[in-house]
Amino acid sequence: MLYCPPENRYDNMVYRRCGKTGLTLPAISLGLWHNFGGVDRYEDGRAIVRRAFSMGITHFDLANNYGPPPGSAEEAFGRMLRDDLAGYRDELIISTKAGYGMWPGPYGDGGSRKYLLASLDASLKRMGLDYVDVFYHHRPDPDTPVEESMRALDQAVRQGKALYVGISNYPAARARTALGMLREMGTPVVLHQPRYSMYDRHVEEGLLGVVQDEGIGCIVFSPLAQGLLTDRYLGGIPEGSRAAREHGALQPDAITDARRAQLRQLAEIASARGQSLAQMALAWVLRYPQVTSALIGASSVAQLEANVAALDQLDFSGEELSSIDALLAQD
Ligand SMILES: NC(=O)c1ccc[n+]([C@@H]2O[C@H](COP(=O)([O-])OP(=O)(O)OC[C@H]3O[C@@H](n4cnc5c(N)ncnc54)[C@H](OP(=O)(O)O)[C@@H]3O)[C@@H](O)[C@H]2O)c1
Repeated sequence: MLYCPPENRYDNMVYRRCGKTGLTLPAISLGLWHNFGGVDRYEDGRAIVRRAFSMGITHFDLANNYGPPPGSAEEAFGRMLRDDLAGYRDELIISTKAGYGMWPGPYGDGGSRKYLLASLDASLKRMGLDYVDVFYHHRPDPDTPVEESMRALDQAVRQGKALYVGISNYPAARARTALGMLREMGTPVVLHQPRYSMYDRHVEEGLLGVVQDEGIGCIVFSPLAQGLLTDRYLGGIPEGSRAAREHGALQPDAITDARRAQLRQLAEIASARGQSLAQMALAWVLRYPQVTSALIGASSVAQLEANVAALDQLDFSGEELSSIDALLAQD
């Protein structure tokens, strides 16, 4: 059926600026790491993407290797672009990345110029695009000089195949070096993409200061710790959940009784704020002004809608933050 997004789709979404750049992103962005691959039902993913755009989510995050199989999420998204979003390209921020293993041999992994530029071409082909909005180096590569990877990102922009660039998973010191190089070259860098959630707070120890100093944004992935920071696992491991799936990245043994007890206590704090645990976990990562967007995954439209409702209550009292810190310190 023809997709007609509502005209008021931008009215209720919150948009935040990537540092001091000209680019704004929705406070909640949608990632296609899981649930959009060749092993998943196209129509399920399509419904999630359509609903996201209808709610003002303008940013969709991909990578060369998302699937499984690798590349299939980009192919599915390319089909969605053709089926539903063809007339809306100028309203979309589409990102992709290269950095993890993608094809056999020495040139399909890491951070070489050879790999990054070939991979971007392949991603554009799979999605049927002339350019992406953001092209990232997906992870630091200790065997390639940072300068080579950053020059490859710069080249992608000069070729007109990316409007902006970003880095992902770079620790603070290496990020500072890489961002300094991009600044020197005049490359339009807008984002760092690190993992951040109540269960992984490493960005608080330096990285948020680096993005602030460089005037760029920060989009944080797995803010729900892949579903752990929701009610998904409180009563067991449901069939079809990420922890139950063969290719799931969430290890079932991470879900212990002690973890469940802690999650229930966090859920009580959320409930007193009028939120679900998932909604509080999203508001919590967005409490730093440096965090431009929380990059979520979803396996259903209902999850997506519930998560976007987190934006109704973003403020925290000092008491709430201390109670959360105290609970997390029990680990
Ligand atoms: N740069 C990188 O290295 C990197 C790494 C990882 C991810 N990412 C990006 O970040 C995106 C998000 O990562 P993520 O999927 O790990 O994020 P996440 O939001 O922490 O986890 C998403 C999963 O949590 C569950 N969930 C979501 N909302 C829920 C709700 N309201 N109630 C119950 N369960 C809920 C769903 O799992 P079920 O499937 O069990 O329903 C969903 O697939 C990825 O798609 C990708 O774009 C980037």
